[in-house]
Amino acid sequence: MILCEKGLFTLHTKNTTYQMKAGDYGVLLHTYYGPRVSGGDLSYLIRYTDRSFAPNPEEAGENRLFSLDVMPQEYSTCGMGDYRLPSLELELPNGSRSADLRYRDFRVEKCKYALEGLPAFQGPEGETLVIVLEDAAAGVDVELYYGVLEDYDIITRAVRLVNRGENPVKVRRAASLCLDFRRGNLDLITFDGKHVLERCPNRAPLVPGIRSAGSVRGTSSHQHNPFVILCDHDAGEDHGLCYGAALLYSGNFEAAVERAQFDDTRLVMGIHPCHFCWPLAPGESFTAPEAALCCSKDGFTTLSHRFHRAIRERLIRDPWAGRPRPVLINNWEATEFSFDAERLMQIAESAAPMGIGLFVMDDGWFGARDTDEAGLGDWTVNERKLPGGLEALVPRIKALGMDFGIWIEPEMVNEDSRLYRDHPDWAFQIPGRPKVRGRQQLVLDFSRKDVRDSVYGALKRTLSSAEISYVKWDMNRSLATVWSAALPPERQGEVYHRYVLGVYDMLEQMRRDFPGILIEGCSGGGGRFDAGMLYYTPQIWCSDNTDAIDRLHIQYGTSFCYPVSTMGAHVSAVPNAQTGRSVSIETRGVVAMNGTFGYEMDLSWATGEEQEIIRRQTAFFTEHRGLIHQGDYYRLSDPFQNGPYTAWEQVSPDKREALVSVVYGTAHGAPPFLDLKLKGLDPALRYQVNGEGSYPGDMLMEAGWPLPMAWDDYQSFQYYLSAI
Ligand code: GLA
Repeated sequence: MILCEKGLFTLHTKNTTYQMKAGDYGVLLHTYYGPRVSGGDLSYLIRYTDRSFAPNPEEAGENRLFSLDVMPQEYSTCGMGDYRLPSLELELPNGSRSADLRYRDFRVEKCKYALEGLPAFQGPEGETLVIVLEDAAAGVDVELYYGVLEDYDIITRAVRLVNRGENPVKVRRAASLCLDFRRGNLDLITFDGKHVLERCPNRAPLVPGIRSAGSVRGTSSHQHNPFVILCDHDAGEDHGLCYGAALLYSGNFEAAVERAQFDDTRLVMGIHPCHFCWPLAPGESFTAPEAALCCSKDGFTTLSHRFHRAIRERLIRDPWAGRPRPVLINNWEATEFSFDAERLMQIAESAAPMGIGLFVMDDGWFGARDTDEAGLGDWTVNERKLPGGLEALVPRIKALGMDFGIWIEPEMVNEDSRLYRDHPDWAFQIPGRPKVRGRQQLVLDFSRKDVRDSVYGALKRTLSSAEISYVKWDMNRSLATVWSAALPPERQGEVYHRYVLGVYDMLEQMRRDFPGILIEGCSGGGGRFDAGMLYYTPQIWCSDNTDAIDRLHIQYGTSFCYPVSTMGAHVSAVPNAQTGRSVSIETRGVVAMNGTFGYEMDLSWATGEEQEIIRRQTAFFTEHRGLIHQGDYYRLSDPFQNGPYTAWEQVSPDKREALVSVVYGTAHGAPPFLDLKLKGLDPALRYQVNGEGSYPGDMLMEAGWPLPMAWDDYQSFQYYLSAI
């Protein structure tokens, strides 16, 4: 998988090849990333030309053909003749800001590396190549880590900087990934949006200049996602060369793409340099988070399949990697803050006979939390609402045959709380500046271990007080006024990153202390839906928008990188709280089944007919969740095209089963006849569709399946296919 020969480094996965070369003057050049090739030195593709205004490094002497400004770099620098997007910027004690790297060494490790305190794809399979570059003037080593997940066609990267010199340096920028392409005719797809409409794909051809998507909110954000695709202009689901890059990080990030002067392209991805400055004293090191790369020459479906499989099997950790996820009911949309134990029991009692296995108590159970203006930080049960605490409530839920889950928001504090009154200095605030509130709450300084320990201590006591199977870890505002009372002025540039490390640290501790608990991530829905979080939280609430039709769009965009088993999705009441739209219970079920599946409504109000439908839905999902969550996912249409329907399909790895889901848009008179071409089936097998008839796979894929005509808005249909 990893071949190293005279400064030439070739990484092979099953279907892709990645190559770099320590070339003239020790500069590490990127020679190739793409579909697998047999091997050999691809540096013949690098042309040497004397380009105007392209400066030459001193080692090149009179050789004007060598310039950093023209060469494809493996890890780009700045201030030394490369004017494209930098990956590394070091500030030396003399105030200069630049970086200059030369190859020194390499080593190969027989398993995939791990990163202390940071999320990473895991071994045991896989190999690691470490290439050591050095900036001699700064005294800094730059170790480039490459993890090769051969079977998954994933190459991961991470970067470790070590100050081996005698002087302190400041790291102003340290990207996780730099990828140069010798072509500019590419489309960039980013996944953007806002609260209640996250991860909508935006695709545009690159034009000269820089296009960047990122976040300085302290979280990966609703607005942009740390996942991007670069692809051929005509790439589609089933054809075309495409590259995906996912950053395993949940804080400020930047994914920037530059189409440069000679029609070359550079992608740089990593921690956002804004607000970032990391002093590195002699002997100290800094690790930039992991990024994962994937390439497919067969379009987006294959790209998604590779990310999905790798995330499911190599990022999400045991015991949840392959374990079936529970069908849950959450009380939030039904009650918001106004509930007591009896009201919760009413919801749980109506849900239990319908096959729902987990009851989740959302926000409002602790401190003086009757509105969103008080209580955050006080993680003890409000006994006025829940007399006898969890010790009394949980056994009653368990007696219904349900597990119990609980909502928390550990990173936050209300000023109206005991915690804030005791420790006002634990919240982020810039001395001399006014506060900035979000949802009437402040953000705790999770860069501080003492703060984390105190919050975690209280949470741990509560989580230990009863049998808890699930935790929803929420985070409901963007960071502002970030300044830590625990760090000196020259180290304030560390705080945003230390905050993320602090969140990871507490999540890891919770995983260790409560290994059986399923943690679902959340940030006002999908404000922190990224591959970094998935290392700790195997599923994430996809969006606060539970409207089934909006969810088609959100879940479609999310699916390009993230597997169905990670997308928190629930059936909620109508008219929908976000859109006012009413969609049938059947369609709401079909859409929520394209995720972790559950309900977020008071089922005691359900009519007899609705109850029957819900019972059927939970039974159907429970029976087929292996197929839905572990199957290969096919997007059969793009909801953003406003076609007559949105359709998707899951196919089991052995291709003997499939589930096809179709949701229509608004109904129109005299509708056309629509045939849906299925994907991923075995052409040679015959499939029974919903237990009736039997049709050869090739016919279903090439000729299609006749869809019924819709007689109402937002009708839906599900087809379960099994090979006979
Ligand atoms: C956020 C979450 C919701 C709910 C509320 C509770 O908005 O995304 O699901 O938990 O907080 O305050």
